[in-house]
Formats: sequence, structure tokens, C-alpha cells
Amino acid sequence: MSDAREAAWKRLKAGSETLVELFAADPDRASKLSARFELEQGGMLFDWSKTHLTDALLTGFEALAEAAGFGEKRRRMFAGEVVNPTENRAAEHTALRGVGKAASVEEAAALRERMKLLVEAIHEGVLGDVRHLIHIGIGGSALGPALAVDALARDLALVDVHVVSNIDGLALEEAFAACDPATTLIAVASKTFTTVETMTNAASAQAWLADNGVADPSGRVIALTASPEKAVHWGVDETRILPFAESVGGRYSIWSSIGFPIALATGWEDFEAMLAGAAAMDAHFRDTDGRANLCLLAAFADQLYARLKGAETRAVFAYDERLRLLPDYLQQLEMESNGKRVTLEGKPVDGPTAPITWGGLGTDAQHAVFQLLHQGTHLVPIEFIASIAPGDQLDPEHHRILLMNCFAQGAALMAGRASTDPARAYPGDRPSATVLVDDLDPATLGALIAFHEHRTFANAVLMDINPFDQFGVELGKEIAHKIEQGGERFDASTEALLKAAGLEAPSPRRQSG
Ligand code: F6P
Repeated sequence: MSDAREAAWKRLKAGSETLVELFAADPDRASKLSARFELEQGGMLFDWSKTHLTDALLTGFEALAEAAGFGEKRRRMFAGEVVNPTENRAAEHTALRGVGKAASVEEAAALRERMKLLVEAIHEGVLGDVRHLIHIGIGGSALGPALAVDALARDLALVDVHVVSNIDGLALEEAFAACDPATTLIAVASKTFTTVETMTNAASAQAWLADNGVADPSGRVIALTASPEKAVHWGVDETRILPFAESVGGRYSIWSSIGFPIALATGWEDFEAMLAGAAAMDAHFRDTDGRANLCLLAAFADQLYARLKGAETRAVFAYDERLRLLPDYLQQLEMESNGKRVTLEGKPVDGPTAPITWGGLGTDAQHAVFQLLHQGTHLVPIEFIASIAPGDQLDPEHHRILLMNCFAQGAALMAGRASTDPARAYPGDRPSATVLVDDLDPATLGALIAFHEHRTFANAVLMDINPFDQFGVELGKEIAHKIEQGGERFDASTEALLKAAGLEAPSPRRQSG
């Protein structure tokens, strides 16, 4: 790492004051460390005041960001320059929402228009009576659509969407059981169009259509991919292929044609509103410096806990059923991006990288894992996400209790409570941050996801790592492939497991092919 960056890290020292002391020392702390983010309609409040960030730390982190070349690296990302050197690629997810290199923004707009035409044609009945969509993909090709459809199209879905990712046939069978083949489309979502789980599930889904009397099963398949030629080769009609650019990473692809099921379920307008919300966050991230940049501020707190205070995990609790899949989404975004052990130059990193992201749903989690958070021995920075407007139509008491519980947890974690009985004492001083949205509409969800994307990037810059590659996922895939091919020897444990499961011989698929 550069000398300036190393020196900036060395100057950074976590303070010793407790959260309660920090609040007592500064009556304006809550307002100084929180900010509204405004959207065209509504917005959200980011409250980072219950973290141990201090003015001195913020100044130190701002110096670190400067020494790490944050401004220049951010410029290069938005300019569509190579920011993923190991794959010699740009990272152009922002271009999908209209912010980035002009040529890429234009290309993305043209592809989006093509997607819009198909979505609207389906809604107008051009492909016949379409009631269900089985969306097949995995990782970044599934987590975003699953999250957004669940958040935005719960009871109002124009088309009933089932996201299937797992190769375990039970997952696909569950979707089959819920769909009528005569009125079902299959979306095959894969950037590479080679992922074994997705291609196996896609073949089985197409066979299911054929076996159930659908006259033209391949005409019911839509490919969402950055490898359109592979989709053609697989047998998808060119008119049914919605491409996206190679420079869009899988875990950043919800904004591309991978978002097709979102548009199909919510309608085109809502999909565009989601992109517009993300674009508003892009503009904020691109144009704001220092601690006023909300994504950078969150990254400062992330680094404080992971590197200066040794927190090995961070937990996200959505106090909103509609965001129950958000922790899963963030797990891939943060852990696949920043779970790295070498710097951009290929040298060993100088400290821990991404903490383990985990989390759950409030208030359920209060009755399951919060014991450890209040009285356990681990330091776990927590994030609460809630909406002021309820998503439900029931007695408003439901939502009031939900929100009050959310705020009570943050207060309790911070304040703790002394007791003469050690088992009943709460140490307190446990940090949390809160994102409180006005209403969970499409623009808000878009802004929320973009906030996390940019926060992830900002963290990567501060740690000097590449957030856009993911070589760590390859070795397991290769070994699975070798097992499937047969003829290879493995360690004694793996050999014994293969034998116990009757998998020593090459798979019949390989033998016949
Ligand atoms: O194995 C990891 C990964 O490459 C993810 O990065 C990606 O989101 C997922 O697999 C799916 O890849 P694809 O969209 O190419 O099928």
C-alpha cells in the first residue's frame, strides 16, 4: 500500500469513550451524525450517531480516504475506466441507471428499451395468457430479483414470480407445483450462461413445459444474459434474449435485464422508479465529499469496527417483512465483493477485510439471536432498517409496536443496564446504526440498494482491495466438475464421502454425453 495510506491508517486510533459518554459530551451528536436523504418523493433518514465515530475519527478517516485515492478511484468507476484490474474490466452498474460514461449510458438505455418492449408485450398478452414466471438464476442473478419482487410486489404482482436458484430439485419442484405450465414463462438469468445450477434447472424447466403439453416450450424461455451468443446456442430464440453489458458484475446486475421479473411483477413504471432512486444515490455518492457522503460515512464506521475494534461480523435487521431478503442480498454484495486477502497490487492485505454479514428480521430476531447481541462476548455492529409508513393494512398498532421495538433495541444496546446480579447485567455500549425510510416504494428500495453498493466500494478503497472480482468461488466449482467427470483422486475424507453416497463413477450425464 502507498506510504500515505499506511501513515493515515497508523494515525487512526479508536477512542475510549462509551456511546453514552459521547452523547453526554455533545448535545448535538444525534443531529451531527444523522442526515436525511431526499428523493423526488419522500426519502430516508440515516442515523449513525449510535456508533463510536467521533469528530477526530471522522477527520482521520477523511484523511485516509484521501490518501487511498478515493476521489480518483470513484471518478474512474463512474467514467467507465478499468477498476477491476484482475479481469481488466470496468464496473458499470451505475450506467444502467443513467449515471456514467455517455456511451455506456446510451447502450444501457437501448437495451432497457428492448426489455421494456418485451415486458409490455407480455403484459398486453402478445405471448398469450401469462400468469406465472419461473425465474431461474443463482447468486447475483437471483438474489436481487427475489428481494425486489418480495419487497415491491407482494400482493399486487401483475405476474406471479417464483425465483429458483438451488440445484436441489426440490426448489424447482416447489415452483412447478405453484404454476400452471400453460400460462408460465421461464426466465433463464445468467451473466455467463454457463452456471451449472442454472443451466440444469433451465433444461428441467423446459422439459416440464414440454411434458405438460406446451406446444413451443423454447418459445416460452427468455434469456437474461451478458452472453447472448451462448443463449442462442442453448436454443433460445433471438427475440427472447435480453442482453446486458459484460462490464456489469453479477452482484450489481439487478438494474439490468436481470431485473426482468421485477418489471414483470411490478410494472415498467415501478422498475424505472427503482432505477431513478438508485440514480439519486449515485449522484449523492459521486458529488459529495467527506463525512457528508452517506456511503463513505457508513464505510468509515464499518472500518472502525472491523479494523480498529476487531469486529468479525456485522448484522443487519430489517424491521419490515418486505425486506426479509435484504440480509441475504447484502451477504453476497459485501462478502463476495470484499472478502479478499490481497490488495489491488496482489500483496497480502494489512488488516481484516469484509466482516461476515448476517442478520434477520425484526422482531423475530429479538426472540432468537438478540440475547447474544445484548450480553454475549462478541462485538457486533448492528444496522436497523425500518419504514415509517406501514406495508400492511391491519390495525396501525402492528406497525407502532414494530417500530417501537426497533428503536428500543438500539437504545437498550447502547445504554445497557447495571445490576448486582451479573446474569442480569447488560454491559451496553453496543453500537447500532439506523436507516429509517419514509415509505418502502420502488425509488426508496433503489436508493437503499445503491447506498450499499457504494458503501461496499468505499470500503474496498479504504482497504485497497478489488471489490469487483470473485476468484474465490472458482476452486469449488472446478472440483465439482472433476468429480462429475470421474477418474480423479481426492483426499481420503472426500473419497469416503463420495463412496458413501455412491458417487465414485462419473455421472451418467457425462457418460452419455
Ligand atoms: O459463483 C459466483 C457467481 O459467479 C456470482 O458472482 C454470480 O452472481 C453467480 O455466480 C451467477 O453467475 P451467472 O450469472 O453467470 O450464472
